[in-house]
Amino acid sequence: MSSDDATPDPHAWFSHDRFGMFVHWGLYSLAARHEWVMSNERMSIPDYERYAERFEPDLYDPAAWARAAKAAGMTYVVLTTKHHDGFCLWDSDLTDYTSVNTPFGRDAVAEFVEAVRAEGLRVGFYHSLIDWHHPDFHVDGVHPRRDDDVEALNAGRDWDRYRTYLHGQVRELLTRYGQVDYLFFDFTYPGVRHGLPGKGPQDWDSETLLAMVRELQPGIVVNDRLGIPGDLTTPEQYQPAGPVIDENGREILWEACQTINGSWGYDRDNHNHKSPELLVRMLVDGVSKGGNMLLNVGPTGRGDLDPVAQRTLAGIAEWTGHHERSFRGAGPAPFTPPPDARYTLRGDRLYLHLFAWPMNHVHLTGLAGKVAYAQLLHDGSEIHVEEAAADAPHTSMTPDAPTDAVTLRLPTRAPDVAVPVIELFLVSAP
Ligand code: GLC
Repeated sequence: MSSDDATPDPHAWFSHDRFGMFVHWGLYSLAARHEWVMSNERMSIPDYERYAERFEPDLYDPAAWARAAKAAGMTYVVLTTKHHDGFCLWDSDLTDYTSVNTPFGRDAVAEFVEAVRAEGLRVGFYHSLIDWHHPDFHVDGVHPRRDDDVEALNAGRDWDRYRTYLHGQVRELLTRYGQVDYLFFDFTYPGVRHGLPGKGPQDWDSETLLAMVRELQPGIVVNDRLGIPGDLTTPEQYQPAGPVIDENGREILWEACQTINGSWGYDRDNHNHKSPELLVRMLVDGVSKGGNMLLNVGPTGRGDLDPVAQRTLAGIAEWTGHHERSFRGAGPAPFTPPPDARYTLRGDRLYLHLFAWPMNHVHLTGLAGKVAYAQLLHDGSEIHVEEAAADAPHTSMTPDAPTDAVTLRLPTRAPDVAVPVIELFLVSAP
């Protein structure tokens, strides 16, 4: 994180870049009804293993994922190495339950890492702390077998063995694939669920695990779902109301992880898709509050992105292609925006994102004397700026202009972009 000495901040890229892609892909992609299908439907292991027998993603092309991510303005891609179902997408020495022992027969993580790097993007791993396939993982309130005779099922399960397995697999992931920039652990649930105790940092031995991660990959960005502080916090499927503060009142790095349709894994019959426009607004809203966005796609069981995901990413790409400088390297601004708008700031450039298009003009309070020039960002066309005059004649079109404001004169028709942005060149950086 930021430091007052001269050491370069290894995490600087993260808050600079602002936008990444999450990829949830695994056996549940074949079920195509949510990545929690094993738990939701209380499936037994043999029952669920039918997907491993059918795992043959002939359209797996991580280079295509990486290209779509890059075009959409994302600079890092985070893949589920193992989800809660325990299935591993890499050639682990510690289990046979991997992509190598399926008809697919390959190490998907290795191919992913290579493809992502080849596009000049950063590599991230998601890794589940939970494992519903491992014979030593205790049945708890979220486990698929929670309705069965839990006491009998848990008798003889050796938790130390599971913890060793967890640490060993993380070691494999962080030693075999070169530089890993980002790690998303998932998740800790210490409270009682379904009448059964959950699992917390002492179960994972989070301190030791995190120390190992840092030793193996100095500079990696790690989330806080080990149940102990990490480098960032990851609000899930909601937009924080403002900057995120820790218990000591300090602002911390955060990244909202968001889905296209509410499910992380491919969910064929779920049509609750957010529009590209809404997703762009969410990205901008996050940056205006100092956060990143990690937008998820759930590739199909054959390994490619479904048409909705492709169209959504293409829609976002259309916007980011002309608006990158309003979010990349940008952060919150010390001004209050007008209603239905968000500001971001990058040096002496202030970006006004208009979520609703105003009629003819918009007043920007607190900016009197501060704006040297303004233009629409997507086409670089000048926007007329006037200092609001305290004695505006009553014939003026803006008799209600506040005195500490500048007024922008806008075209009647909103530009044809998902979110119009006005780039304001400030006289000096605030
Ligand atoms: C949750 C869910 C999970 C998803 C993750 C993404 O914790 O358990 O399915 O992978 O959030 O943030």
